[in-house]
Amino acid sequence: MFVKQATVSAPVNIACIKYWGKRNESLILPTNPSLSVTLSQDHLCSTTTSRTCAEYEENLLWLNGKEVKIDNDKRLNTCLQAMRKQRERYEAKYPNEPKISKWKVHICSENNFPTAAGLASSASGFAALAYSLAHLYDLPLSDPADISDLSLNARQGSGSACRSLFGGFVEWQMGRDDLLGSDSRAVQVADHTFWPEIHALICIVSDDKKGTSSTAGMQRTVETSALFQYRIQHVEEQLVDIKQAILKKDFDTFAKITMQDSNQFHAVALDTDPPIFYMNDVSRAIIGVVTEYNRVSIAAGGKRKAAYTFDAGPNAVIYAPGENMKEIIGMIIQYFPQPEPFKDPFLNEVIEGTLVPGFNSAVAKRHEVGAVKGLIHTCVGDGPRVLGDEHALFDANGKPK
Ligand code: DP6
Repeated sequence: MFVKQATVSAPVNIACIKYWGKRNESLILPTNPSLSVTLSQDHLCSTTTSRTCAEYEENLLWLNGKEVKIDNDKRLNTCLQAMRKQRERYEAKYPNEPKISKWKVHICSENNFPTAAGLASSASGFAALAYSLAHLYDLPLSDPADISDLSLNARQGSGSACRSLFGGFVEWQMGRDDLLGSDSRAVQVADHTFWPEIHALICIVSDDKKGTSSTAGMQRTVETSALFQYRIQHVEEQLVDIKQAILKKDFDTFAKITMQDSNQFHAVALDTDPPIFYMNDVSRAIIGVVTEYNRVSIAAGGKRKAAYTFDAGPNAVIYAPGENMKEIIGMIIQYFPQPEPFKDPFLNEVIEGTLVPGFNSAVAKRHEVGAVKGLIHTCVGDGPRVLGDEHALFDANGKPK
């Protein structure tokens, strides 16, 4: 029996200029361009194996060990069909290649971070899906233009997924083609080796209630928020400026724009009818602490040393040059004591709670253990990786491991 399979991993990305709003729901075309930082797969990633053979009777997916019917999931199906179409074109061009585009696929996907962490996994998940199918189907991937083409397919799984196909700093251009969406694609601004000093601290904030999903939330914002109209007219200027800041490695401007855009996104969520609250009191306390940390630096004649950003949930991501991370982690632990001693993976030492000299400790109250239930210290990272068969998520008989 001829079996073909491909295993890859793909990274998580966290936007500095947020995507929020669609102008076309089915093609997933955004109302504004966005920009993100790809985070290292050493700490956070989705791994996916795609496998095909003539004998498979239906398309199947196992997501973190649970079986899902692909044919019932519109977005998964769109993504898979788009990849198959590309394979068909490839087979038409190379008639000697096996006609695997007609065969059903089995896909197994896993995240190396717990779903309970509340981190969005759809971006890395759909990027891994598109990338693994591209490999399975022998589609060209050597050129950045090929990856950018592939991002059109990942985008139709989940908008933010298109940005996870590149490492480093990535822009999702909104495009003008409303009919096919052929120019709404990801492009790399700079790769992860360009500014490797950029680190990220993810503060996992406890969240018991089930929030509004990004998809539903942004749709409601488009329909009801007046402030949103202002946002989509001005976001592009911020994007131009942050791109320049990245290319100049100007952290101060990068931080200013990142925080402004996060604030504006959450203001627009609040301006939605009925209002959407993604941040909670712990999120706001983290904003207070980062703001005070920057104030101390600026008061001493320095610049901003950290930037917070929040997606559609209460978790904070703090971007900062790696050299500031010890201070930042110390400060976060001071206000949000951790259940276990936090051993930093970069310094390989346990970091204790502490504040920098001149810090006004009254900016937030010291929270109970568990308010921030975990910390992940990571850094900017590379794009999807092709993995060897030893990492495959199926065993030799095609059963999920
Ligand atoms: C707040 O990509 O999850 O994280 O396209 O409907 O799947 P869909 O939405 P999704 O939205 C992400 C929104 C965000 C901002 C961002 O990542 O840019």
